[in-house]
Amino acid sequence: MCGIVGYIGHRNAVPLVLDGLQRLEYRGYDSAGVAVIHEGQIKIRRDVGKLINLRNKVESGPIEGTIGIGHTRWATHGEPSERNAHPHVSMNGDFVVVHNGIVENYLELKRELTSEGVTFESDTDTEVIVQLIAHHAQHHTNGDMVEATRQTALRLRGAQAIVVVNKHTPDRLIAVRIGNAGGVALGIGNGENFVASDIPAILEYTRKMIFLDHADMAVVTADSYHIQTLQGEPVDAEIHEIDWDSVSAGRGEFQHFMQKEIFEQARAVTDTMGGRVDFEKGDILLKELNLDEALAKRISKIVITACGTSYYSGLVGKFFFEQLARVNTEVEYASEYRYRNPILDENTIVLAITQSGETADTLAAVAEARKRGAMMWSVVNAIGSAAMRTADGYVLMNAGPEIGVASTKAFTTSLVNQLMIALRLGQLRGTISAEQSVFFAQQLSQLPRLIGQVLEFEDQIKALATVFHNYKDFLFLGRGINYPIALEGALKLKEISYIHAEGYPAGEMKHGPIALIDEDMPVLAIAIQDDLYEKMISQIEQAKARNGIVIAVATEGDTFIQSKADHVLYVPAMNSFLSPIVSLASFELIISIIVSGSFL
Ligand code: BG6
Repeated sequence: MCGIVGYIGHRNAVPLVLDGLQRLEYRGYDSAGVAVIHEGQIKIRRDVGKLINLRNKVESGPIEGTIGIGHTRWATHGEPSERNAHPHVSMNGDFVVVHNGIVENYLELKRELTSEGVTFESDTDTEVIVQLIAHHAQHHTNGDMVEATRQTALRLRGAQAIVVVNKHTPDRLIAVRIGNAGGVALGIGNGENFVASDIPAILEYTRKMIFLDHADMAVVTADSYHIQTLQGEPVDAEIHEIDWDSVSAGRGEFQHFMQKEIFEQARAVTDTMGGRVDFEKGDILLKELNLDEALAKRISKIVITACGTSYYSGLVGKFFFEQLARVNTEVEYASEYRYRNPILDENTIVLAITQSGETADTLAAVAEARKRGAMMWSVVNAIGSAAMRTADGYVLMNAGPEIGVASTKAFTTSLVNQLMIALRLGQLRGTISAEQSVFFAQQLSQLPRLIGQVLEFEDQIKALATVFHNYKDFLFLGRGINYPIALEGALKLKEISYIHAEGYPAGEMKHGPIALIDEDMPVLAIAIQDDLYEKMISQIEQAKARNGIVIAVATEGDTFIQSKADHVLYVPAMNSFLSPIVSLASFELIISIIVSGSFL
């Protein structure tokens, strides 16, 4: 991850690509690069740090070409360095690639290619893609770039966006989208065409955009484009005219910002893990947290304090910190905590979770805690905000700007941040073994794909929304690590639709709220196959006994639940620590569809 820009036409691609990358700077990155084809050769410039470094490099060693690709990178595999920055070139020097996403099976593919004699220049998963394309072109497709790219794409696990160029066919570039690692937009120009991960990058040049769907591949020349599925079926893609006003421009192909931000979550979690999780070794690097072994061992308590959605994120975080790091953790409403005369000492960490970093109650609560000797950490999205500036240690969400009223990608990334902090704490406190670290890192690498898979159920969720959009009351239920997701689901529905909703830990249902259940109050229950599955089934039975209509969020392949619930929304099977992050996506989608009426 993070930003992709490509150009093919009659102008010099380099300034266009660099300007496009500049417009994506807001997404954050740690290195950048650009490649062109000129006189049959691939020319590359890459550097770490800000784009200005890359610009300086291009100025001192100019390159030019009428086809070019560029990238800004948040490191996911391998440190931020020139060697690991995109674009990456194949060993035989024929192909060059930029890529957003995580190749989950890159180790397996790397081993396979290494055994065939391929040598690697970088530590990235991206290099596996370009080497595999070159390998297919050489051994299986007789140099056919389109077929080699298609065969490679079919072998990649995970959600990806890829742009590839070949020095022998400088009249075309290929863009591929697999899953929901973020979008791929084609910008249609006059005698020139563009590709970008985000439309602001190319909006200055064209307002005509095509958005690739999951598993689509576009072959783009200066004056044509052909889109097909990875199975080879032609795609008749719609051209969207992006309006001139900045709101429509920012929203792109989506009906509203909440929908856009829901769909950005797979990419946001990739960005938040970028440079922080070593998916091979299991190491977690959180530089700005200022956490060392001595501090990790000294911490006796974590107090999470936050408001609204961020508070519910903290309720999930409590499970991470207690289970993985074995640290006693409390979660407090900031608006209450600041007036509570809390008991704290220098071995307590007060952790503020805040998207904006400026919520007054949260800032006041941590200020109060610090006065009493506690240390302060923050998980924050807004760079430079008070919660970041004043903390002893912080982790940025890297979710990008959140415009929709209801927090979606900031909530998701704050969960990932807390999971990373808990893993790091556990590693330093010795509560997590080296094998477990590798296991969890590999689980984390699957997150973008898992979230993306839920979003692919949009049509099924739309059908459900048509049934339920007129109801006035909803009950959300969950257990264990997923009960905060029930509370968050209810909050989201209330906040953006003004529909009454309650969220409860399902075990509490019998202690009062069960009296509310009838055929007018649908129950949304998270009933994935974890340790508490049977308990959830029994609670679904209780709701049914009161004539409740039950919509269950269940694990793919669970057919038993169909005999218990009226409707089932499936999510992929996953480790239970990831389940709150993934389950929420299905709630968000149904809520956003109910609110926007986009099924009508
Ligand atoms: C509230 C918003 O005002 O602030 C909630 O309505 C939000 O949606 C809460 O979750 C906390 O905001 P922040 O920026 O501190 O995470």
